[in-house]
Amino acid sequence: MLDLIIRGANLPDGRSGVDIGVQGDRIVAVEPGLAAEAGREIIARGRLVCPPFIDSHVHMDSTLSLGMPRMNESGTLLEGIAVWGELKPSLTQEAIYDRAKQLCLWSMARGTLAIRSHVDICDDRLMAVDALLALRDEMKPYLDIQLVAFPQDGFYRYARAEENLRAALDKGVDVVGGIPHFERTMEDGALSVKALVRIAAERGLLVDMHCDESDDPWSRHIETLAAETVRHGLQGRVAGSHLTSMHSMDNYYVSKLIPLIREAGVAAIANPLINITLQGRHDTYPKRRGMTRVKELLAAGVNVAFGHDCVMDPWYPLGSHDMLEVANMALHVGQMTGVEEIRACFAGVTENAAKVLNLEGYGIAPGCYADLVVLQAADAIEAIRISAERLYVLRRGKVLAQAAPRQSVVTFGGAVKTVDFTRANLARA
Ligand code: FE2
Repeated sequence: MLDLIIRGANLPDGRSGVDIGVQGDRIVAVEPGLAAEAGREIIARGRLVCPPFIDSHVHMDSTLSLGMPRMNESGTLLEGIAVWGELKPSLTQEAIYDRAKQLCLWSMARGTLAIRSHVDICDDRLMAVDALLALRDEMKPYLDIQLVAFPQDGFYRYARAEENLRAALDKGVDVVGGIPHFERTMEDGALSVKALVRIAAERGLLVDMHCDESDDPWSRHIETLAAETVRHGLQGRVAGSHLTSMHSMDNYYVSKLIPLIREAGVAAIANPLINITLQGRHDTYPKRRGMTRVKELLAAGVNVAFGHDCVMDPWYPLGSHDMLEVANMALHVGQMTGVEEIRACFAGVTENAAKVLNLEGYGIAPGCYADLVVLQAADAIEAIRISAERLYVLRRGKVLAQAAPRQSVVTFGGAVKTVDFTRANLARA
């Protein structure tokens, strides 16, 4: 007698009609026609069941602060930084905590059960660090939060950044961050990468740096990050976030760079919603898209994940922490409309992101955690196409969130028809 069986699931790898058996907090069986009984059954019947969505890059300390104290009217990175600077003096630990917690509720409803959040350590009170560490611990039964010590104002440019970063890591922040392109000089940027990777190596921590987040074709910090990763033997434990300058780099140089990234086992995290809106702002026409070279990185065997980056904050006024929206934007910006390419975009907000976070027990196989999402869609492509409703979100074998199937009723020519945008609905029409 099992605790739960999900019957008739389609899986992201293309298998269909699969039953998923759950005992306690783990998956114990994944097979068609599972001959067992369970305390509860969920009938998926041709719907996609996937492991949870993962946001591999977000800033929970600024999330949901939109309009405080004013809107960013130009939409530029610089005005966003100015608006954030105006809010900073009146920020409180409670306000940061409350907004980030609200985001967690949205995440649960969206089936996003692991989040890597950068936290600004260029505040000598480390208020956001304390707020998000408390939230990380409180949310543990519901979702995994991984925190990155992020020197927003520069590791060398902000006088007490190193001291604060070490203090944040001492308090329990999980990952070492950086922002080399924001240091005063290219040389300072390279030195910051070296110092930060050394700190991570000494402490046995993962690394995730904002790296080359500009349209500057000469920004070279990802090269240094890859080289330092190899030097310290940290392959598989380092990520470069944004890498937008790669969009503008010379093709010959990129043909050298991508194999270096691959050799170093450095993962790339693109943030399509933010890259497409913030980059290329100095361009007239043609306007660059700014997102890093996702297709080429994937083809070379580099692990690529996608982050939301911002949800309703001074840099981005939209979003509801829906990682399917992120995958949707990624495939548009990257011109990845082939079947395998769309599936790769789905992987960018699921399995690839799990590898970036070094998550344990992620996936749909016996022994994995029973963390699962049942979607109102037949497969990954349909899920992205219609930003499918999350019908059930399970964490450790228990239902965490639920939604009714989404549909509209259309009265047309005297008849009443239901529309839900799925292919199943199409077949019935
Ligand atoms: Fe970011």
